[in-house]
Amino acid sequence: MVRLKIHHALAYNSIITQTIMAPNKDVSRLSFFNDGAFPLFLAPMAGVTDPIFRSICKELGADVLVTEFVSAEGILQAWERNKRYIQIKEDHRPVGIQLFGSNGDHMGRAAQIILDHQAPEFIDINFGCPVPKVVGKNGGSSLLKDLDLLRSVIHGVVKHVGDQIPVTAKIRIGWDAQSICADEVCHILQEEGASMITIHGRTRAQQYGGQADWEIINDCAQKIHIPVIGNGDINSVTRIAEIINNTAVKGAMIGRAAMENPWIFQDAKTYLNEGIIPQPRPFSDKITLILKHTEMALESGHYGQEQTTMQHMRSRFLAYTKGFSGAKEMRSRLVRIKTFQELKEVLKTIPV
Ligand SMILES: Cc1cc2nc3c(=O)[nH]c(=O)nc-3n(C[C@H](O)[C@H](O)[C@H](O)COP(=O)(O)O)c2cc1C
Repeated sequence: MVRLKIHHALAYNSIITQTIMAPNKDVSRLSFFNDGAFPLFLAPMAGVTDPIFRSICKELGADVLVTEFVSAEGILQAWERNKRYIQIKEDHRPVGIQLFGSNGDHMGRAAQIILDHQAPEFIDINFGCPVPKVVGKNGGSSLLKDLDLLRSVIHGVVKHVGDQIPVTAKIRIGWDAQSICADEVCHILQEEGASMITIHGRTRAQQYGGQADWEIINDCAQKIHIPVIGNGDINSVTRIAEIINNTAVKGAMIGRAAMENPWIFQDAKTYLNEGIIPQPRPFSDKITLILKHTEMALESGHYGQEQTTMQHMRSRFLAYTKGFSGAKEMRSRLVRIKTFQELKEVLKTIPV
C-alpha cells in the first residue's frame, strides 16, 4: 500500500496537501483507505484476472483485487457452475466480488448468496461492461442509458446486503460522447449508499479505443464524498505519480498494463517510496514468469486438463510478449502451443 504520509519521492508534498484538503471522504468502511493510503487496484478482467493471475499480481504488490465479473442470474440459477469465478484466497485480501445484472432484487439476492459462501471485503456492481452479450441483457454499460434502472440496481443490492458489507460500483463515463453522465451517475450511487466508485474514463462507444478522459474522472472525484478510484490507460509508474499529484482520486486501478507487466505495482511503490524508476524487466524475467504462471494454472486445474489450460494460456503468452522486439516468430508459435513441454521448447529458442 502506498502511504501518502511517506514523502521520499518528489511527488509527496502535493499528495499530503491533497489529503488535507479533502478530509471529508467517507472512507471508514473500506480499510484499504486507512491512514491516507493510496491503494493500487488490479482491474477486474474477465478471462484474465482468475485466481492464478490475482495471486501473481498480489505477490507483485497489487493492494486490492476484484474478481472477474459474474452474472447475478448465473449465481441464482447455477451456483455450482459459477462459484469458481468468485473464489477468494485468504492471502488475496482485500478482495471485491463483482456482479452484473439489471434486476435490483435479483442482484441483491445474488449478493446475499455470495455472502453466505464467501466473505469479500466489498461487493462491486458492474455498470461499465460494453460487450453485446451483457449489454443485450440490459447489464453493464447499458444501465448508463437508463438511470432509473441503474438506481434500482444499486438500491436493490444495498437494501439486501448494505448493512453487512460495503457496496461499490464501477462505471464508464457514459454511453457515448453525446450522453456523458458520470457526474449524475456518481451522485445517484452516492445517494443510494455506495461506498466507493471506480470510473473508467471511457464511454461505452469507445470500447477500449481512444483515450480515457481523466478530466471527467477528476471532476467527479472532487464533487462527491465517497472515494473515487481512477481507471483507464494507467501504464507507467510516472503516470501513477501524476495521478496522485494532480487529481482527487483516492486510488488507481490498472488493467491492461498489468496484464502485460504485472511488476507495475511493485515498480510504482519503489518509485513512490524511493524516487527510483525501476528498469524495465529483461525478457528472461518474463520467461520465468510465463513458466511460473503456466505451472500455477496447470497445478490449480482451474481450466481443466493440460490442453484446455494451454489453450487458455495462449492469450496470456501474447500479453506477456507484446511489443517485444524480435518476438514475432515466437508469438506465432505461442498461439499454437498445446503442451507445457512445447512451451518450454519454444521459450528456449529465445536468445536472452
Ligand atoms: C479482457 C478484459 C476483460 C475485462 N473484464 C472486465 C470485467 O469483468 N469487469 C469490469 O468491470 N471491467 C472489465 N474490463 C475493463 C477493465 O477493468 C478496465 O476498466 C479497462 O481495461 C480500462 O483500464 P486499463 O486502461 O487499465 O486497461 C475488462 C477489460 C479487458 C481488457
